[in-house]
Amino acid sequence: MTAPTTLDALRDHISAKLSRAVADRNAAWRTPVCATAGPQARVVVLRGSFESGRRLEIHTDRRSDKVLAMAAHPEIELCFWDPRSGEQLRARGTAVVSTEGEEVERIWAALPVGSRLPYLGISAPGEVLSQPDTGLSSRVTAGESEAGRDVFAVISIFVERWDWLEIGSGGQRRARFRFPEPSEAGAIRADWITP
Ligand SMILES: Cc1cc2nc3c(=O)[nH]c(=O)nc-3n(C[C@H](O)[C@H](O)[C@H](O)COP(=O)(O)O)c2cc1C
Repeated sequence: MTAPTTLDALRDHISAKLSRAVADRNAAWRTPVCATAGPQARVVVLRGSFESGRRLEIHTDRRSDKVLAMAAHPEIELCFWDPRSGEQLRARGTAVVSTEGEEVERIWAALPVGSRLPYLGISAPGEVLSQPDTGLSSRVTAGESEAGRDVFAVISIFVERWDWLEIGSGGQRRARFRFPEPSEAGAIRADWITP
């Protein structure tokens, strides 16, 4: 057991681990499973963690099934797993998909060409192809990569609940943090719960 032993310290620990996952491409929590209604689940890259981990950000193609799923049911859960520390985090919240506006423009402008490649396919994710790949390569120039802007979408997850579980040879610990909605006054509710 390596994580802190008080709920306050654990909250800071989780928040720091989420920030590290955004900054470090080798961090275990970098690639959570993203679950939407269906059920549908897929791996994504964690691109942003704000307000101490209470708003998380991922990037996607606006034409993807996950965006369709979120339009109908915006409830979403990201599930992170770190095999080295034995920590799972399930961050549940409400997804807001943005395809335009100053913030989206700023995020797109900062994306390196390599990160824009997934948005350069002519056909939408999930469409049938005559060949297994799209033929995209890293030889795309910055100017050419602008073509991906139209389909680029930012998904913000406003987190309502963290469910943290640690497993190890010393046993298991589980904690739940419930966050009030921004419009609600009220404190964060934190509890140890049965694993
Ligand atoms: C390591 C890894 C990272 C991925 N990162 C993303 C991502 O950040 N955004 C994304 O839309 N898809 C990402 N994908 C692809 C998704 O898992 C999924 O195949 C794709 O988004 C289509 O999902 P959908 O049809 O359910 O929308 C990633 C896949 C892997 C294996």
